[in-house]
This record gives sequence, structure tokens and C-alpha cells, in this order.
Amino acid sequence: MTDVGSAFDWDACWAGNIAGYDSWSYEFGAKLATTFSQLFDDIGPPKTVASVGCGPATTLLNLAEDYPEHHFYGYDISPQAIEQARKRRDDRGIENVIFTVDRLPRLSTDRTFQFVYSIATLHYVAESEMAVRSLWQCVEPEGHLAVNYPTPFHQKEMMPKLVENWDEVGFESKSQQWVRNRFRLILNGENILTEERIGALLERPPRDIRTFDAEMPSEIGEKFRVTILRK
Ligand SMILES: C[S@@+](CC[C@H](N)C(=O)[O-])C[C@H]1O[C@@H](n2cnc3c(N)ncnc32)[C@H](O)[C@@H]1O
Repeated sequence: MTDVGSAFDWDACWAGNIAGYDSWSYEFGAKLATTFSQLFDDIGPPKTVASVGCGPATTLLNLAEDYPEHHFYGYDISPQAIEQARKRRDDRGIENVIFTVDRLPRLSTDRTFQFVYSIATLHYVAESEMAVRSLWQCVEPEGHLAVNYPTPFHQKEMMPKLVENWDEVGFESKSQQWVRNRFRLILNGENILTEERIGALLERPPRDIRTFDAEMPSEIGEKFRVTILRK
């Protein structure tokens, strides 16, 4: 069982079958790398970038290849995820990425970065506000945080539909109980955030990622809300 930071046993998930998650994740991760590149055109390419809850690290590895002089760090609660991400890095001959096991809601790293992002991860963390603060602590002054968060829409519409229709959305077949357990924090409304709440917590104006990429596909923009804050 993965450590208490997660509501779901991610280590078993990654150990069991990474392919169960991959096609969607890789497509989404690659699109996100393109969006972040556009964001970097706007804010200036960060010299140091951290992905928290990096999983397969698709976005991080693509960015690392695009910015070979810059330094990239991936963190995940799951030792399996980290081991597999290291292998993908090494298979691609990428030398500017370091992967480390670490966990929200309180990261133990004392490193800071010019750009920190966390995608599809707070959804599995009970103390999501504490996690947002911990991510923020890792951002250097004048750096940026890009955070994807579970919303009232996820609680009321998206996750209940996923529980009903999991087999139809292209993931591997799982029981309703498994899906319900995976998303239980959201379904129970335990970790829901809003952009306004994140802005209030960090005392900065949040900016939806779509304002940096007008062509962002709607499934990333609307369903998977990402907000950007400058420190
Ligand atoms: C749905 S996956 C998303 C992976 C990646 N960010 C992406 O978008 O493809 C969630 C990831 O968060 C990790 N995770 C879950 N709870 C975590 C926690 N408390 N701290 C750090 N990572 C966590 C899981 O191991 C998993 O790799």
C-alpha cells in the first residue's frame, strides 16, 4: 500500500499495469508540454522545473528534451512510478532530469524551482489546501506555480459519470467499486478547490492556463482546470 499521502494505492497501480493509464495520459501529457512551451514564451523559460505527482513524466521528459540546458525534477509518492520514469528517461538518453520519491501534502524536499506544476494529483490528496501551500513553498520568488485541482464540477458531474461509464471512456476495465475508491475524496467533497480559493490561500491573482493558450483543447481547459500563479 502506498504511503498515507494518497487516497489510492498508486504503487500497486504502477506496478500492475502502466498501460492501463497510458494512452490518455501520454496524449494529454504531450499536449501539456506544448502548452507549457507557449507559457514559457510568455513568462520566460524557467531554468528549473519540478513536476509533483509526475507519474509517467511524459510532459517533464518532453520539456527536458526541448530545453536541454535547463534542469527538471520529477517527484511522485510511488517508488514504482519513479523507477519507471527513470527507465524512460534513460531509454531516451535524457540527462537533465532527476526523479525522487516525495509526497504531498508536505513535500520533504527543500529545493526551490522557477516553475512548479502538479497535474491530476491533488485529486488524490486529502489535505489539498496544505498540498497547495507545500507546492508554493517550492516556488522561487518571481517563479510560477501551475496547479490542476479537483473542482465542484469533478465532484458533481465528472467523477459520478466516470464511476458509471468507466469502461466506455477507454481505460482498462475496472469495477465500479475500484473507480469509486479511486475518486472517493472528490466524490465525498473532501478535497474540492476553486481557483478563487487557491488565489486566496496564496494571496496572488490566479490565472487560468487557457489565457496563455487559446487553442488548448477543451478537455484540458475546461475539465482539467489548471491555474497559474506568480510568486
Ligand atoms: C493520475 S496520475 C497523474 C500523473 C501525471 N501528473 C500525469 O498527468 O500524467 C497521479 C500521480 O500522482 C501520484 N500521487 C498520488 N498521490 C500523491 C501524493 N500524495 N504525493 C505525490 N504524488 C502523488 C501518483 O503516484 C500518480 O503518479
